[in-house]
Amino acid sequence: MTQATLPDRFTATQAALELAGQSHVLAFFDRLTDERKEHLLSQIEAIDWPEIAGLIESHVKNKPEFELPENIEPAPCYPFEPTATQADEYRRARELGESLIREGKVAAFTVAGGQGTRLGWDGPKGTFPATPIRGVSLFGCFAEYLLKVKQKYGCACPWYIMTSPVNDAPTRAFFDTNDYFGLDRNDVMMFPQAMMPAIDAATGLALLDSPDSLALSPNGHGGSLKALHTSGALADMNRRGVEQLSYTQVDNPIVRVVDPLFIGLHAAQGCEMSSKMLPKVAPKEKLGNFCLANGRVAVIEYSDLPDELAERRRDDGQLWFRAGSIAIHAISVAFIESLVGGSGFALPFHRADKKVPFVDLATGERVEPQTPNAVKLETFVFDALPMCENSLVYETDRIEEFAPIKNADGTDSADSSRKIQTERAARWLEAAGVKITRDKNGDVDGVIEIQAGTAIEPDDLGACDLPGSIGPGSKTLI
Ligand code: UD1
Repeated sequence: MTQATLPDRFTATQAALELAGQSHVLAFFDRLTDERKEHLLSQIEAIDWPEIAGLIESHVKNKPEFELPENIEPAPCYPFEPTATQADEYRRARELGESLIREGKVAAFTVAGGQGTRLGWDGPKGTFPATPIRGVSLFGCFAEYLLKVKQKYGCACPWYIMTSPVNDAPTRAFFDTNDYFGLDRNDVMMFPQAMMPAIDAATGLALLDSPDSLALSPNGHGGSLKALHTSGALADMNRRGVEQLSYTQVDNPIVRVVDPLFIGLHAAQGCEMSSKMLPKVAPKEKLGNFCLANGRVAVIEYSDLPDELAERRRDDGQLWFRAGSIAIHAISVAFIESLVGGSGFALPFHRADKKVPFVDLATGERVEPQTPNAVKLETFVFDALPMCENSLVYETDRIEEFAPIKNADGTDSADSSRKIQTERAARWLEAAGVKITRDKNGDVDGVIEIQAGTAIEPDDLGACDLPGSIGPGSKTLI
């Protein structure tokens, strides 16, 4: 097939942009070198402009109103610890999850395409040093976890990582530099997600970041489902016989990268997509709420849940909507395949108002806005839940599984994450009979890190030579 020439591509692009009312993005085209012309055309060609034109009407010029589903009630949840009547079901589910891992039918999937602006880290978020003593990176934590899974179950879990065009190259370089942390490179597949242009909120025009570049940002983690298909990851899973994906975010160093019990519960019920939840600590905690909306599991964002519903409590004092979404899912490969073709990947877009630097078309100067000037459009993976006929929600424990690193300081920062990592390590060690020094508030006096190579769950410590006690103020690596 002959490649289209630059002038041909320009003509086709110009026509598409004109139809969408976005011709201005070629304003500086004539001044660019051929190489930069090629760069800009490639960016423009990757965008579905008719879709953008529709979204500008619905989401930029107008703000979509959230419509609360008519019938909503709290989603039922599997508890963290089984009740007496569930004990057998949990045991069988765990066995099923373990056998799926052993047979190579489970893969890990990390979404790492976000920009991580809040953290202020210069590089892909997954390269951030996360553990309290060794400073192992987030990617390093997941790699160590997967190495341990391989050691325990005798089979490697393939690992799919979604990057973005912005952080794909540095992410690959980081894995290279670290020699893939000892994993077989054939078992690690990275692919970038698609991008969306930022739209000027006042004019509805796509912004230029520079004369030869659109202002682009990743299209949200909802884009991961389609990207799994277009990247060839789905085909790769089929070749390997992978049936279940364990979906986790890049920001949580203590996430169970693959959890046999959760995968087993999900597979035993024939679920298409399942979720882990945490009980919210406050009615308006900034977590999505798991609901049953017209009989199907759905996440309603905290900002969309009316106060009256958020505050409502059961007779025993528990929040009525207590299940918060922490973005951990099990997804069946067959479900993702069922979305291929048709409008299956068409998740709803969400609008976010952001400060986006842009090139002033009149002067050619770059402007750094002081207040939000642009609309970014993203889809969210949890919006696929209502497409599922079967979907379960399983409760997990904050200290056991949720220590996200999102902010430079305060809540959900590296500091708060390291404290939770120490607390979790202390709990596991105490359960194994180790005496830990705690201060008057009950906090661990010192820092403890359990390497994933040693243990990824408390029972793994049984095989280890542990100290009898851990003294005050010490740094202990197990
Ligand atoms: C997210 C969830 C929130 C949940 C919290 C748990 C949303 C809208 N919010 O919030 O309900 O309680 O995590 O930690 O999902 N990502 C991509 N591509 C993108 C955008 C994001 O791969 O285009 C990835 C990021 O790399 C990260 C994850 O998705 O791994 C979360 O992104 P982020 O935007 O930071 O979500 P939060 O606001 O933290």
